[in-house]
Amino acid sequence: MMSSFLRTITATLIAFVVLGCTSTPKQSLYDEIGGHQTLNTIYGVAITRIYTDPVIGHYFKGVPKKHLRDQLVLQTCELIGGPCEYDGKSMIESHKGLGIKEREFYILVEYVQGAMRDVGLTYQQENRILKQLAPIKYETIYL
Ligand code: HEM
Repeated sequence: MMSSFLRTITATLIAFVVLGCTSTPKQSLYDEIGGHQTLNTIYGVAITRIYTDPVIGHYFKGVPKKHLRDQLVLQTCELIGGPCEYDGKSMIESHKGLGIKEREFYILVEYVQGAMRDVGLTYQQENRILKQLAPIKYETIYL
């Protein structure tokens, strides 16, 4: 005969196993912010500002807005756990020869950050996305 203590332990262990097996997988940051639609709005807003910026706007002369927007959405989607696979040029390839300076990199990042804020992302969501973009810095500047 099992003691009531053992019965309680056994029941608790079974509950853990059952709950562990049925719990839903953690939602990706991509889904949390509203997926493709949210990213597309963020980059739409940011690109309008980037293309007209007096310091960095000139880099984008002749670069089709839709192409850049689509590539940025795809790349960020992949970086934040979405169901995408970036298939554009490598970061070094697409920024090589541009001679982008570090301060110019930060001007661009601030536009992306501002757009994230404007569409209503939380600071935490903003920072989690920026954290994924930060390492790309070294593949875009002084090339
Ligand atoms: C985290 C920062 C950055 C990310 C994630 C990023 C991402 C990208 C992506 C995905 C593309 C498209 C590549 C393709 O055509 O397949 C691209 C192209 C481009 N980026 Fe960036 N970029 C960053 C920083 C910058 C900065 C700071 C500048 C300039 C101030 C810049 C200027 C450009 C230009 C001019 C192109 C078009 C190149 C071409 O088509 O010839 N990028 N970037």
